[in-house]
Amino acid sequence: MDYRQIKRVAISAAHEGATVLLKKLGRLSKINKKGAIDLVTDADTESEKTIIETIHTAFPDHSILAEESGLKQGTSACQWIIDPLDGTTNFAHSLGLFSVSIACAVDKDLICGVVFNPVTNELFSAVKGDGAELNGNPIHVSNTTEIAESLLVTGFPYNIREVLDQIMDRLARCLAASQGVRRLGSAALDLCYVACGRFDGYWEQNLEPWDTAAGLLIAREAGARVTDFATRDYTVELPQLLATNGKIHQQMLDLINPGNNI
Ligand code: IPD
Ligand code: CA
Ligand code: CA
Repeated sequence: MDYRQIKRVAISAAHEGATVLLKKLGRLSKINKKGAIDLVTDADTESEKTIIETIHTAFPDHSILAEESGLKQGTSACQWIIDPLDGTTNFAHSLGLFSVSIACAVDKDLICGVVFNPVTNELFSAVKGDGAELNGNPIHVSNTTEIAESLLVTGFPYNIREVLDQIMDRLARCLAASQGVRRLGSAALDLCYVACGRFDGYWEQNLEPWDTAAGLLIAREAGARVTDFATRDYTVELPQLLATNGKIHQQMLDLINPGNNI
């Protein structure tokens, strides 16, 4: 498997998808709802189509799991995991905090991840074993050791109305203990911002594989520790995610899951 070729195709597909997004930004003709607050736009579907075409032109036998069109099973052990627009709610409100997220796994083992925000022109990438990069320069998690000195980020699931009390309890504890908590609205960027040290920790629940696959590899390759809320190593199928610089991981677990019983 030529990981460099995979990375080149992932970056090229991310640029193709992002070009579609930029053309549509502020000019959406249609916004549909997948749930009460879960939006999908023609930007999501057109970006996804372009990304899949780019990948399939290079690797016709690879499988593809993409948010809007689901699974296309190929004959190869390689599977691509694609979020064509992570941050749709921001995008629908013309807020430039969104990304294209593309990962590639071989037999479920993540080997390449690319997350691109075309508004800031920041491209995060990682290849397994090679470290993580931002626009070609190596990145690493922060060195903060105390939660009181930490800037955290979280996200809220689309079923928030059903789990509001639990979410607010965790948020209240983290707000009281840290320097601040942000909510950006793109899980892929949240993971990348932990990877490059802008945030010291990130937690969220009920994410999907396409939200986290690329960011997970980028964060781990940058030195992050990524688990669920009970110290199991995070995989994209798990419902809870805690990503930190490693040094504040236990302090965050104590805040997010005080009884350690989830
Ligand atoms: C969403 C974003 C958001 C997170 C949601 C995700 P989408 O993805 O990553 O930050 O809080 O849980 O579903 O719907 O914009 O692709
Ligand atoms: Ca997403
Ligand atoms: Ca999406």
